Amino acid sequence: MSTQLMQEDVMHIASHGSTAAHLAAGTVNTPAAFRAVPTGAALGAEIQGVDFSLPVPEDVKQALREAWARYLVLLFRNQDIDDHQFLAAAGVFGPPHEAASRKYHLNAGRKIDNKYMISQHPSVSIISNLDENGIPVKDNGSLGSYEVVWHTDNSYVEVPPAGSMLYALVVPANGGGDTSFNNQYLAYDELPEELKHAIEGKDQVHDSSRNSAGVLRPGVKLPTTPEEVEGPTHPLVRVHPVTGKRALYLGRRRDWPSNYIVGMSNAESEALLDRLWAHATRPGYAWTHKWRGGDFVLWDNRCCMHYRSEIDSTQPRIMHRTTIKGEAPVAPW
Ligand code: SIN
Repeated sequence: MSTQLMQEDVMHIASHGSTAAHLAAGTVNTPAAFRAVPTGAALGAEIQGVDFSLPVPEDVKQALREAWARYLVLLFRNQDIDDHQFLAAAGVFGPPHEAASRKYHLNAGRKIDNKYMISQHPSVSIISNLDENGIPVKDNGSLGSYEVVWHTDNSYVEVPPAGSMLYALVVPANGGGDTSFNNQYLAYDELPEELKHAIEGKDQVHDSSRNSAGVLRPGVKLPTTPEEVEGPTHPLVRVHPVTGKRALYLGRRRDWPSNYIVGMSNAESEALLDRLWAHATRPGYAWTHKWRGGDFVLWDNRCCMHYRSEIDSTQPRIMHRTTIKGEAPVAPW
């Protein structure tokens, strides 16, 4: 694929006279220390020379934002940070904000536990496979240990987050729970012309009833007809506010009745969505990350989808996640 990022395409940033020379003798958080090493897949780069437990100067923040626009997914290894530092890291890319799923759990009477499910910080979600006693389980009423199908975070709200960040605190000893990301700019660019034509001017209703493991959200009724599907309407293609590029924006899809394309019969909408999903989730558009403790990954929900493989439900996995405030999707038409 000609547009793939090459391994040797390593981005350095020019020194602008950083004032952070005192930081770890200049080995981190300086322009000279900053490196973006592409994964060699269709998206993603590992960022080296950045430590979010230390102050990050403006020139390095700017380099991080440029790298995010270029690589879509950024990986930082060996981070040792608390929730305040985690939220400060998110703030480099935009204001962190509360995940849309939090209100469902709180409304259903779940308590803030700071450990297994709900953090005291409204902008931090605990993504774990533990129950309220701290035991790994398959189903904990949230994502649990389930496979998490391809989706874009919070596309079921009017103003979905620009990005999401996941920080690995505990990862399963025997693997599982790998997270994959895919490049929806490429998916759009390589869409056959007749499919581009078929989706032009079209919007989709994004079903808010179930999470990405297919679990019905607490307190929500399962839709039995398309008319009962609740959620916002977004264009099938969106223009990225930073890069100006077009990306396919499929968001999510659960068992029928779920997302549907406005102005089409159910059968037409399902047939078109089948074709779009088959194209958008082609392996050539994806990169898979195998987690280590201390890994920190940032992705762009405006041009990527993500997927998580099933976790061995005897093994604990604990992540902290935050989302970065975004904007309502803008159609190119
Ligand atoms: C998510 O879909 O936000 C969860 C991803 C993961 O647990 O790796």
